[in-house]
This record gives sequence, C-alpha cells and structure tokens, in this order.
Amino acid sequence: RIVYVHGQFVPEEEARIGLFDRGFLFGDAVYEVTAVIAGRMIDNDLHLARLERSLKELGIPLALARPDIVAVQTELIARNALQDGTVYLQVSRGEADRDFFYPATLAPRLVGFTQAKTLTGTKAQQNGIAVDLAADPRWQRRDIKTAMLLGQVMAKQAARARGFDDVWLVEDGLVTEGASSTAHVITADGSILTRAASQATLPGCTQRALARLCAAEGLHIEERAFTPAEAQDAAEAFQTSASSLVTPVVRIGDRVIGDGRPGPRTRALQALYLEAAG
Ligand code: PDD
Repeated sequence: RIVYVHGQFVPEEEARIGLFDRGFLFGDAVYEVTAVIAGRMIDNDLHLARLERSLKELGIPLALARPDIVAVQTELIARNALQDGTVYLQVSRGEADRDFFYPATLAPRLVGFTQAKTLTGTKAQQNGIAVDLAADPRWQRRDIKTAMLLGQVMAKQAARARGFDDVWLVEDGLVTEGASSTAHVITADGSILTRAASQATLPGCTQRALARLCAAEGLHIEERAFTPAEAQDAAEAFQTSASSLVTPVVRIGDRVIGDGRPGPRTRALQALYLEAAG
C-alpha cells in the first residue's frame, strides 16, 4: 500500500511518524473516514467540512486548502487502485517534546491511507447486526472527531466478547450513538428518529446525506433523542457511518427488533442511499 505522510507518498513500510507526535502521545489529533465506491468518494464535502470544524474547535491550524486535501485523497485512491473501501485522513497538532501545554508554533501533520473493503451487499447489510447497549464512556466533546478512541475500542471489544456485532452507547437514560456510527430507530407509526446534533454526539455525514435524500422524497426524520427502551421497542432500527453506510440493526441488547430481519423501511433507506452513492 502507498500511504501519505507529511507531504509524501511512500510505501507503508517506509512511513515514519515521530515519537513526539502529539497524536501519538496525547491523542491530540482529528481524523476523517470517507467511503469509496467504484473509485469515487462518497459525501466527501461533508467529511472535509467536518474535518475543518474539528480542527477549528481544537485550534489546530492546518495550512491546507480543501482542494489540496482532496488532491491527497484522490492520489491515494489512484496510487492504490482503490475501487471499494475507505480513505482515512488524520491531522495531528504536530511534534514537540512531551508537555500538556503546546506552543503556538507547531506544524500540524497530515497523514492518510486507504483500506480496501467491500462496503455494499455485505452480510451485515443484508441480514442486519446485533448491537449491545453500554454506558457511554467518552469525554464531553463527542462532536469533535478526535483520534482519542479508547472508549469506543473498549466498548466495542466488550460487546463482541458478549456476542454482539457492535454497541450503542447510553448516557442519562438516552442513546447517544453507536460506538462508530449514528443510531436510528423507526417507530411503529413510521417515524424515523435520530438524535439532534449537539456536543453529545458526532454529527454523522452519512446521517446528514441520508436526511437530505429523505427530505427530497418527502420523508421526515424526526431529530430527537430516544431511550434504550424505545429503541428496543422500535419497529425497525439501523445505524449509519462511512464504513457501514446504512446497516440494519435486528437485535438491541436482549431484544429482537421486529421479526429479527431488516424491516421494509430500513431496506428502502438503504436503497435510497446506495442509489445516490452509486
Ligand atoms: N466513524 N459517530 C461516531 C462516534 C463515529 O465514529 C462515526 C464514524 C459516526 C458516523 O459518522 P459518518 O457517517 O460521518 O461516518 C458517528 C468512522 C467511520 C470511524 O471511526 O471509522
């Protein structure tokens, strides 16, 4: 694989990150994952807008314009002949001797790589997945897409050990989001529920793109938080992310959703999203 590190495209074996990179020492870095289908990036404008926002919130001054970032992504896709998968970008605050305080003069570091994987027609998308419920272990600024992901790593690993495919996180009696996805439920009367944007969750690009498509179809997504019990009582459930697109959820904790198979409304949303992406 050819990867991108601080201005250069190199074979992954030759890529070097500094020991004192703050991304490595403090998780002081932000990232984005963009889906690639048939060689084309999906919803990339939304991802780059969110990257810019994350950088701004943390005061990381990346001196690269959006077209320059797109050029890096495009070259990564081309050099790796990527058809289906993801392109990952990470910006760290820079390198300095270890100190919680950072000087204003640091040069941010941009790295990127591709991952080849099938995103459409997967078993998870066809049959749906089982998600566990667990307390949200993360910090209070989940609207910033930081590379500080240990909470998600531990929650996902624990869910897998309990026999689940993924996990939805819960705080103050409400579902925040999936560990690496946006959580959605569809009630018996057909309302699609998604939590409104706040600092409690990452504003999902896939969710946003889907909401636009729904609006164009006259379908309304109601932005409100829901409880774990509401989720478990829902007619249908699904999660969205750049790496899983629209994935049906057929079990939440110990409760089967609907008849245990992806529901018709979720199927329709999946088709709507794929049609636009394809
Ligand atoms: N994660 N919420 C969290 C906590 C996430 O990590 C992600 C994405 C999402 C969905 O966002 P989007 O639709 O923009 O991908 C929501 C990526 C895929 C990851 O960490 O690999």
